[in-house]
Amino acid sequence: MTATKYVDAPNRRVDVGGTSHETQLAASGLVSFRDRSRTRAIAVVRENIMKAFILDRYGSKSTLRAGEMADPQVREDDVLVQVHAAGVNLLDSKIRNGEFKMILPYRVPFVLGHDVAGIVVRVGAHVKHFKPGDEVYARPADHRIGTFAELVALQEKDVALKPKKLTMEEAASIPLVGLTAWQALVERGQLKQGQKVFIQAGSGGVGTVAIQLAKHLGATVATTTSTANIDLVRSLGADVIVDYKKDDFATKLSDYDLVLHSQDGKALDKSLHVLRAGGRLISISGPPDPDFAEEIGAPWFVKLFTRMLSLGARRKAKSLNTTFSFLFMKANGDQLGQLAALIDAGHVRPVVDKVFPFQSTNEALAYVETGRAKGKVVIRVR
Ligand SMILES: NC(=O)c1ccc[n+]([C@@H]2O[C@H](COP(=O)([O-])OP(=O)(O)OC[C@H]3O[C@@H](n4cnc5c(N)ncnc54)[C@H](OP(=O)(O)O)[C@@H]3O)[C@@H](O)[C@H]2O)c1
Repeated sequence: MTATKYVDAPNRRVDVGGTSHETQLAASGLVSFRDRSRTRAIAVVRENIMKAFILDRYGSKSTLRAGEMADPQVREDDVLVQVHAAGVNLLDSKIRNGEFKMILPYRVPFVLGHDVAGIVVRVGAHVKHFKPGDEVYARPADHRIGTFAELVALQEKDVALKPKKLTMEEAASIPLVGLTAWQALVERGQLKQGQKVFIQAGSGGVGTVAIQLAKHLGATVATTTSTANIDLVRSLGADVIVDYKKDDFATKLSDYDLVLHSQDGKALDKSLHVLRAGGRLISISGPPDPDFAEEIGAPWFVKLFTRMLSLGARRKAKSLNTTFSFLFMKANGDQLGQLAALIDAGHVRPVVDKVFPFQSTNEALAYVETGRAKGKVVIRVR
């Protein structure tokens, strides 16, 4: 489908104009004509329109609207990917709810979605490592998200060739959780052979990859899960399994080198006692700390806020001669390339709970929000 659209500087949302389309799209809330005054920066081109699931309004009760968006712009360092499958993450719900507005202030309307597997259809002039036809997977960088759509433009540095062994749906289940596990265990945690790591929620998206990666690194792995998922986490390699419905991990585990924390504050508190002196806790569920605020270049009030939020955890960790840090994963094509090699070598396998059709994107998100997914939830886009 084509329409006339106004394109200003790269990296801006495209404002679609034209006659009947203009009225229709403006009324639908898909477009704004705010930039019309900046006439010199605006060129009129003809481009395609893609189907997408669009967030119009923040809020936990908001659903994504199935609508149309102008195709993404492709910058010089970008690859344009035809989306075949998109992974669904709790981060999508949290952004929709408005919980991340302070850190990631996306302006509505925008397209959600943080995981993609698909085929490169176009590359920017500076792209060196990809060409049309390549099968790729990625976690788009923050501020470049939008995989619940037919197309997404990604920075070349965030993309890797898809693991050859995997289907598009399986590949789309990996990037965000795979990178989280890699950045927690390898990059920050420096997990070594013979060390002991406690990975909370072993049957979740992050947990299923983290257990396998930790085992590949030669660590002893403890995890928590409910009775129904004990066989799953055992099959992934977990050595010590605590059924959290029956037992308290704090009474079962001790002298751990590393904890990958993904649950609530109470579990955080108890996990610090599971560490040996000098051990490290890396939290992916909060509270965010000042180092994280510094890393993302947050304004002073966000830095202050994170200092206050994490004060208790940092103090407690210090009193036990352990360390606490918060991790917010980042896009990284090189690390995805290394994960693809591990997957193709059989060291890590995807765990996909459910695949939803594209039109059921809201249902997929709702399923993830139940907190009961075994591994990952994926949307098949084509
Ligand atoms: N900071 C970051 O970069 C980052 C990245 C990824 C994820 N996260 C966050 O990390 C958390 C986990 O993410 P995820 O994608 O792995 O979640 P998920 O896939 O939605 O987790 C679902 C799993 O959690 C298990 N679970 C629920 N309550 C549990 C408990 N009390 N103890 C142990 N297991 C429990 C469930 O198993 P049962 O059905 O057996 O209970 C289920 O299999 C979320 O808060 C997410 O937002 C942060």
